[in-house]
Amino acid sequence: IKIAVAMGGPGSEHDVSMATGQAVLKALLGEGCDAEALEINTSEVIVPEGVELVFNTIHGTFGEDGVLQKQLEAKGVAYTGAGSASSLLAFDKVASKERFIEAGVPTPASETVDCSAGVQMPKMDLPYVVKPPREGSSVGVHIVREEEEARAAIEDAAKYGDEVLVEQFVEGKELTVGIVDGEVFPVVHIAPRSGFYDMSNKYPWMTGEGGTDYYCPAELDEETTQRVQDAALAAHRALGVEVYSRVDVLLDADGNPFVLEANTIPGMTESSLLPKAAKEAGYSFGNLCMKIAEVSLQ
Ligand code: DAL
Ligand code: MG
Repeated sequence: IKIAVAMGGPGSEHDVSMATGQAVLKALLGEGCDAEALEINTSEVIVPEGVELVFNTIHGTFGEDGVLQKQLEAKGVAYTGAGSASSLLAFDKVASKERFIEAGVPTPASETVDCSAGVQMPKMDLPYVVKPPREGSSVGVHIVREEEEARAAIEDAAKYGDEVLVEQFVEGKELTVGIVDGEVFPVVHIAPRSGFYDMSNKYPWMTGEGGTDYYCPAELDEETTQRVQDAALAAHRALGVEVYSRVDVLLDADGNPFVLEANTIPGMTESSLLPKAAKEAGYSFGNLCMKIAEVSLQ
């Protein structure tokens, strides 16, 4: 079948998406697929003649929030990954958190502040993390440890929308768990060389600075690993995510996991986290791309 790899998009993660898209396209061609690039810069997808599957690699706005999915559903074209409803839910960190709480999935305590009439300060005790609720790649995310840093952090997050999510900071390890077709992959431990896993530590090849060490499988005991994987799978299920996701989890010093979010269009360059975990589970990058395409067509 003919596959178009959708990449780019109008959001703040455009460049990351181009890297994911090119890597996926190369992998699909390497697996012998009839695949082509479909670069999108606007908020409308025009599917080339004959394409039967859109392999979606657009992170964030338009590609990960259910909009592209809705357009493709209306056109009757199959696409990879989660459907429009679960994409919308998973992309919204505030709505996801409500669902996690209902489902008993552990997640950091939080507060949302409405900045529509100017910057509002949260009531939560320091330290906390400030985030735009509907962005990815740590865009607009700040860890606030000192009172005097709070206002600038909230102002910056509010650039992306009036609603700002403030989460209690969890001191511990940053972990992530890939899930494909119900299979939970080995846990990845993300250890930024300094600071947290922000844009520069995620994409040093793009920003020219920063760096991160990755450990897969994470050096956790069996019981803790199971607890982390269970929490990730519970989060994935609570959001109703179809096909695949990568669930980000923090682990506190006592070994308690806290789920942050499920990414329904996770980074897929060859050095990205989901491919690393998949490799540990026995899937090459090409195998992983093929599996996502095949499961999405079922
Ligand atoms: N939002 C980035 C691409 C990720 O979750 O991998
Ligand atoms: Mg995300």
